[in-house]
Amino acid sequence: MKVVHTVEQLRDQLRGQTRVAFVPTMGNLHAGHLSLMRTARQHGDPVVASIFVNRLQFGPNEDFEKYPRTLDNDIAKLEQARDVYVLFAPDERELYPEPQTFRVQPPADLGDILEGEYRPGFFQGVSTVVLKLFSCVQPRVAVFGKKDYQQLMIVRAMCRQFQLPVDVLAHETVRAEDGLALSSRNHYLSAPHRVQAAALYAQLQHVRNQLLQGVSDVAALERQAAQTLESTGWQVDYIAVRRQRDLLKPQAQEITSGEPLVVLAAAKLGQTRLIDNLEV
Ligand code: PAF
Repeated sequence: MKVVHTVEQLRDQLRGQTRVAFVPTMGNLHAGHLSLMRTARQHGDPVVASIFVNRLQFGPNEDFEKYPRTLDNDIAKLEQARDVYVLFAPDERELYPEPQTFRVQPPADLGDILEGEYRPGFFQGVSTVVLKLFSCVQPRVAVFGKKDYQQLMIVRAMCRQFQLPVDVLAHETVRAEDGLALSSRNHYLSAPHRVQAAALYAQLQHVRNQLLQGVSDVAALERQAAQTLESTGWQVDYIAVRRQRDLLKPQAQEITSGEPLVVLAAAKLGQTRLIDNLEV
């Protein structure tokens, strides 16, 4: 695997390549990331991964400074998995040589709801860096995890509206045995909170099962799931049943008529904020 730190080195490595498959990450790689890279390999060649902790997508009180930066370890994992041909690991001066005053602003109906409501500016930061990484890597295919469901939808919408020649593939969420979605932020959990963390997915499953059994009072389902978590010490930002196609609230008749739905959740255990979702 070649590790490059500048856009120039990256372009040298990729000159003439037209089937690049790309996996952008912020590093601190886990089995979920490695699975994205395995999938990328099935859809293109060469596979390029990036590691860049993107300041633009962190709010002022978020964990940008303490976000785990583990480049040497990440390189060792990628070397061992042997799916990635080029790792692009720029520093901030390389990717943002001047203040990034041009930004991609997602539409409010997709970007300001759910995660966007609780993390203002987050999707602007994500979209801006993803566009920039796409421009550096020029992939034909890019793989994103479904765990960040809204991010995946926003990146897809951005590619469609800007007519970027990139197929965005969705990868199923990779979970620990107890159901917790793998995430770099799981490392922040204390041992007791790590045990408790599986309850988030359990609530998503409960809501999904209720919907599949024909329960149509979505507001009550959301409220009960949030209360169950809060009664054991979680602080819930949202548990929301939405339409898969646009993340809007389903109409009453859509709930029973087979409209594809997704249950999305964000909640904190101590200082650690976790997100997850489950398609119905
Ligand atoms: O999902 C992530 O890790 C990040 O949001 C991404 C897509 C790498 C952009 O910084």
